[in-house]
Amino acid sequence: MRAAYASAFDADNPLAALTVGERPEPTHPQDDWVTVQVRASSLNHHDLWSLRGVGLSGDQLPMILGCDAVGQDPEGNQVVIYPVVPTPGDPRGMSILSEHFPGTFAERVAVPRMNLLPLPAGLSVTDAACLPTAWLTAWRMLTTKGRADEAESVLVQGAGGGVATAAVALGLALGKRVYATSRDAAKRDRITELGATALEPGARLPERVDLVIETVGAATFDHSLKSAAPGARIVVSGATAGHEPKVNLRRVFAMQLEILGTSMGTPGELTELLAFCAEHEVRPVVDGVVPFSRVEEAFARLHSGDVFGKVVIDHTA
Ligand SMILES: NC(=O)c1ccc[n+]([C@@H]2O[C@H](COP(=O)([O-])OP(=O)(O)OC[C@H]3O[C@@H](n4cnc5c(N)ncnc54)[C@H](OP(=O)(O)O)[C@@H]3O)[C@@H](O)[C@H]2O)c1
Repeated sequence: MRAAYASAFDADNPLAALTVGERPEPTHPQDDWVTVQVRASSLNHHDLWSLRGVGLSGDQLPMILGCDAVGQDPEGNQVVIYPVVPTPGDPRGMSILSEHFPGTFAERVAVPRMNLLPLPAGLSVTDAACLPTAWLTAWRMLTTKGRADEAESVLVQGAGGGVATAAVALGLALGKRVYATSRDAAKRDRITELGATALEPGARLPERVDLVIETVGAATFDHSLKSAAPGARIVVSGATAGHEPKVNLRRVFAMQLEILGTSMGTPGELTELLAFCAEHEVRPVVDGVVPFSRVEEAFARLHSGDVFGKVVIDHTA
């Protein structure tokens, strides 16, 4: 079957480590696994990290990339794949598809049957393919970790990214005042169109916020600390621009801030998110849909940083 996979690692030019070609059909590590025919998938920064060699070792190559997918199960049902798989050998006890088990950028992918969730009526295949990683992460950051029900205002850093655009759209749908930073004027215009207040990175906010959504890291973390109201939560799920920021601890204790790490979400949270999007007519921000036959272009687009929202791959084309 055709697949997009990491055939090497390249820390400087991850696109050079990507190969598109034939891979063997999926196998089932256990009896409760099934094979899903993939209809759509979406890219995450995770796929670029994998090509750089972050989270993978040489003996795992070649590794089919891709965490997100919507497809058809063996009974013909349309399903959304929950990408977190129990993995006893991993210190986290779990892994995300494409870390230990082959990912979704292929004609078919094998997953435990319990990882299949029904595609809700009202959500398109393209929309749902955006939700299992970036949107699930943003949902958990806002709700379970960030306690959005106790917050009136939210700051989202680096708002062009997949997690960040999700946090902006979901924060607004939850009724919060949302501020979002982006380095790019065109992206700030798009943020304003969504209904949030767009700011340049580092700009002073009109108010201190109750919740900060951090995926950028070193480049924005000091601004996140300075923008936080007393008792605010700064929820971190990524560090695209560096994972070792300087942290002003005086501000952390004086303002009684909570800095919380999170990764992905639970199957229950993904079920909640699918229902929330279907019920509240929240639709993922899609940068573009690329046919699988041009999957390299999708990777190049994400790597350029010039994206606003999710890059989706149509596996039927
Ligand atoms: N822990 C988890 O479960 C989990 C799940 C999903 C993602 N993540 C992580 O979260 C991060 C974002 O993922 P994503 O897929 O949303 O990535 P993405 O779509 O590639 O977004 C990256 C965004 O970061 C901002 N950025 C990058 N470099 C920056 C810099 N030097 N200064 C300021 N902003 C910068 C950019 O915002 P502007 O261009 O708008 O400024 C860009 O749009 C990644 O590190 C990813 O690994 C973690």
